[in-house]
Amino acid sequence: MEVQKMAVLGAGTMGHGIAQAVVVSGFNVALYDVDKHVLENAVSIIRDNINMRLVAKGKISEDAGEAAMARIRTATDLVSAAAEAEFVIEAVPENMELKKRIFVDLDKICPPDTILATNTSVLSVTGIAGATKRPGKCIGTHFFNPAAVMKLVEVATPIGVSEETVETTLAVCRKMGKTPIKAKDIPGFIVNRLLLGFYMEAAQMVLEGTATAEDIDTAMRLGAGHPMGPCELADFGGFDVINMAGDAVFEYTHKERDAVNILYRKMVEAGRLGRKNGKGFYDYLSDGTKKPFNLF
Ligand code: 3HC
Repeated sequence: MEVQKMAVLGAGTMGHGIAQAVVVSGFNVALYDVDKHVLENAVSIIRDNINMRLVAKGKISEDAGEAAMARIRTATDLVSAAAEAEFVIEAVPENMELKKRIFVDLDKICPPDTILATNTSVLSVTGIAGATKRPGKCIGTHFFNPAAVMKLVEVATPIGVSEETVETTLAVCRKMGKTPIKAKDIPGFIVNRLLLGFYMEAAQMVLEGTATAEDIDTAMRLGAGHPMGPCELADFGGFDVINMAGDAVFEYTHKERDAVNILYRKMVEAGRLGRKNGKGFYDYLSDGTKKPFNLF
């Protein structure tokens, strides 16, 4: 199935990153959010990224950058966003009831052949698909933060998805310049399922005083070649997301290594969500630097 017109629902961190990748690769996108200020901010971030990280570095021409921006339109109502879409990527907050409600609405709004994809990182894609009358057209496309840059898309295949939906989704991801990898619709798919144990053990090491968060991060960057250490990465993903992901995977595996470490619960209780609100294992300063937070 040929795709040109896409819709991305949710203009937050993941949504605007996905929308940027979509338009830079030549698709048209309707970027939807209920909040027009979030939409305005998202378009501004996309424009800055295209201009400063792609055009200014000679990765794409100025004309290509302008053409990409011209392929974005925004919408605060779902009908305007999705009525003509051939492929929809939902990237709203990780709340099963919200996602199901949106998929039920999309089922009514979108043409019958439209593929409905969710960017969920751990929720059941089969469960979301089951809320619609087109389960064969529903699939998971799990992008990684920052979605404009990270090459991987985990294509989570729910029970009942059609082969054509899978093949079309893989082709769309490849046209976006991504490397899609299929995974069964099991909580955490591949990367988060492995990363969770990483995050939990790092938190336990900080709690035990084995080493500081900063030293653990430095050790993994220098010793394992990671671009970010586990604590910095946990800040990047957000402790609320980690807690929700950890609970979903633990409910499936019942393995101690996946149980959410108490430190992440305490961080959220203390109002420290990670980079998203400037406070995690590190305090993120207005000048773009960060300094380690003294936990206890
Ligand atoms: N658009 C285009 N290019 C961008 C960009 C954007 N939005 N953001 C960054 N870039 C480019 C930069 O221009 C730079 O390009 P260059 O190397 O050609 O100059 C390159 O990406 C690296 O960016 P920066 O130089 O700004 O910064 P870093 O070198 O520190 O890299 C990072 C930043 C890419 C985030 C790197 O630290 C990294 O890869 N971190 C790990 C990220 C990760 O693991 N993500 C997965 C988290 S788990 C997840 O998302 C799952 C979900 O369910 C929670």
